[in-house]
Amino acid sequence: MSEANPQCLIISGDSRRELLPFENQVDLIVTSPPYADARRKHYDSVHPDEYADWFLTFHESFYRALKPQGSFVLNIKDKVVGRVRHRFVWRTIDRLCEQGWHCIDDYIWHKTNPMPGFWPTRLRDGWEYCFHLAKGPKPFFCPDAVRQPVGDWVHSRLARLSEGDRERHNSVNKSGFGRKIASWLDRQTVLPSNVLSLALVGKNKGHPAVFPVDLPLFFIKLLTPPGGVVADPFGGSGTTGIAALAAGRRGILIDNNPEYCQLALRRLRDEAGATEQEIRLRVHTTDEVGYQASPKRVLEHTG
Ligand SMILES: C[S@@+](CC[C@H](N)C(=O)[O-])C[C@H]1O[C@@H](n2cnc3c(N)ncnc32)[C@H](O)[C@@H]1O
Repeated sequence: MSEANPQCLIISGDSRRELLPFENQVDLIVTSPPYADARRKHYDSVHPDEYADWFLTFHESFYRALKPQGSFVLNIKDKVVGRVRHRFVWRTIDRLCEQGWHCIDDYIWHKTNPMPGFWPTRLRDGWEYCFHLAKGPKPFFCPDAVRQPVGDWVHSRLARLSEGDRERHNSVNKSGFGRKIASWLDRQTVLPSNVLSLALVGKNKGHPAVFPVDLPLFFIKLLTPPGGVVADPFGGSGTTGIAALAAGRRGILIDNNPEYCQLALRRLRDEAGATEQEIRLRVHTTDEVGYQASPKRVLEHTG
């Protein structure tokens, strides 16, 4: 890996602009944007009523950056306004679909350690959305890459196989689905569901909204080929870059806060063991010109 071919490129700037030069080069955008009206001390905060309009300003750069079989995974959660759930997330997803995105599935990140607290009309908030959007209805998809060990319950269940378990049972509603318990006898792994159970990350990473490495890692394995390119246009502390390197993919992290870009650089070194040659930090100012060719070159020359 030479300095011209970093495994992870960190760009300090606005992703609406900085992602544009990567047209048709990215396999997966996986990201968690600023949520509506949240963390205004740390970064831009957008009112829930204006959120869909604001998010749509990123649509063009995201859409153009992706390859035709590329995917966009959006981790987000709607907000309570005046004791009622505001549906800015659903509105945003609907608006993205109007722009041509295909909504492939809705994954749920189940937080195994949700924040403690008491609310008069609601319980503790234990999950967030991860929307899987894509440019087309048949994006790159490799479920075998996320298979999980079959689990101990299978061994005890299979030890008690009845005669009926050895036959296929078709669904009573004639849906075409069916099951044969005995066919699990030789299985070591199963496909996971679309609910991901992962713990929240502690507050010690130097950024207020760090998601767990295993969240982007799951989607990177599922939705990109080995050696593929993963971008996080709201890169924050660099979690997606750590996951990309762990999975043997290349990463592009963009954040408009230069301090978070420095933090991402440190985390990539400390937590992913990345060398100086494997990471590059690029700082753009809004009036810088002539930068368009270089990001392309960086990726095209990487084998
Ligand atoms: C929810 S945080 C992402 C945290 C990240 N997932 C992590 O694990 O550290 C959203 C990030 O988006 C950045 N951001 C906000 N507007 C941006 C823009 N227009 N371009 C690039 N980054 C932006 C903020 O500085 C913030 O770090």
